[in-house]
Amino acid sequence: MTELSTDIGGLALALPGMVASGIMDETGASMVRMLEAGAGAVVTKSIGLLPNAGHENPCFTEVKGGYINAMGLPNPGIEAFGPEMAEAVPHGKIIGSIYGRPR
Ligand SMILES: Cc1cc2nc3c(=O)[nH]c(=O)nc-3n(C[C@H](O)[C@H](O)[C@H](O)COP(=O)(O)O)c2cc1C
Repeated sequence: MTELSTDIGGLALALPGMVASGIMDETGASMVRMLEAGAGAVVTKSIGLLPNAGHENPCFTEVKGGYINAMGLPNPGIEAFGPEMAEAVPHGKIIGSIYGRPR
């Protein structure tokens, strides 16, 4: 089989493809599923300190030349996301995405 392993800033990946933040990465089970499907790593949904509902719909719309989306960073907050990480981390490379807001 072709060798595809790589190194990104010291992070060794068996395969070069990563799942982008916000795509099939909101639960431990979905992250494990992406690793099992061949992702070299999964970037988590962006997580903040506190739960955040995100924007009201519509969050996705057609524009000239394509589509845009803006979810508003919906997430359950860092404490609630801990168990999802605990489920996924033993299965492969998980890259945490976090954000903060100015007060
Ligand atoms: C439904 C949805 C949710 C997303 N959530 C996040 C997020 O939480 N954090 C983030 O940094 N990017 C988020 N993104 C952006 C994606 O990670 C990615 O950067 C974007 O889709 C562009 O990917 P592309 O450069 O491969 O086209 C989200 C995208 C989509 C479609």
